[in-house]
Amino acid sequence: MRIDVITLFPDFIESCARIGVVGRARERGLLQVATWNPRDFATDNYRRADERCYGGGPGMVMMIDPLRRALESARAAGAAEAQAEAKVIYLSPQGARLDQAKVAELARRDRMILLCGRYEGVDERFLEHAVDEEISVGDYVLSGGELAAAIVIDAVGRLQEGALNDAQSAEQDSFSNGLLDCPHYTRPEHHEWGDVPAVLTSGDHAAIARWRLKQALGRTWLRRPDLLERADLDKKARALLAEFQREHEQGKALDRGNESGE
Ligand SMILES: C[S@@+](CC[C@H](N)C(=O)[O-])C[C@H]1O[C@@H](n2cnc3c(N)ncnc32)[C@H](O)[C@@H]1O
Repeated sequence: MRIDVITLFPDFIESCARIGVVGRARERGLLQVATWNPRDFATDNYRRADERCYGGGPGMVMMIDPLRRALESARAAGAAEAQAEAKVIYLSPQGARLDQAKVAELARRDRMILLCGRYEGVDERFLEHAVDEEISVGDYVLSGGELAAAIVIDAVGRLQEGALNDAQSAEQDSFSNGLLDCPHYTRPEHHEWGDVPAVLTSGDHAAIARWRLKQALGRTWLRRPDLLERADLDKKARALLAEFQREHEQGKALDRGNESGE
């Protein structure tokens, strides 16, 4: 997959895309990330890519033409290796909220171009003519699209086949099967802050899988009941959830007893 990023801060994107799983995916040739700075496509001596807002008011707006030339160069650079024309995605608080299903859909594309806004944003005419879709990383406002682009690159990069050393780990992650992930433990087995649940050291793979599914169901019930409402649970999963809920209620009753000194 190839991702081109149009940004006034290419160093930020480059440094994010150098580390961890994404860096490894790039080294393995699974992911290409290239940056395009609209300032490099400005025509004045000041390399101006933003201007004051028509109608007055605070803040600057990113101008059409430096962006347009940056986009043309990004398109041309990846055209040879791409099968389809790259879609242009503007990272914007006004876009559709990113979730794992969207990440999985993006990860199947062979190219995309991400546009990072700054200041008040981008001239609306550029958005109307050159942008295919808008994606938001959440209902809050960032000062620039670079952090949001880095989130997209990370989430999509780790889903490229061969990027993770163990492909199973992505399948078990939160949201992949509509549930949150189960808790994880590592050494030491015994610690003053608690012991590792005995089932995990039992070597009984069926019991471990059962425990993990039960915890994932329970956590989703406790933390994100909205996900559970949408999940299509089979009979076994419903029984495990009921077991978790019973144990949870018993635990709470025990805690209440301890508090009242019973
Ligand atoms: C200060 S914001 C501009 C916000 C804009 N005036 C608005 O209220 O919709 C500057 C840039 O940050 C990026 N940005 C801010 N919040 C974002 C979010 N939640 N998701 C994705 N990008 C965001 C966009 O690229 C935006 O153009």
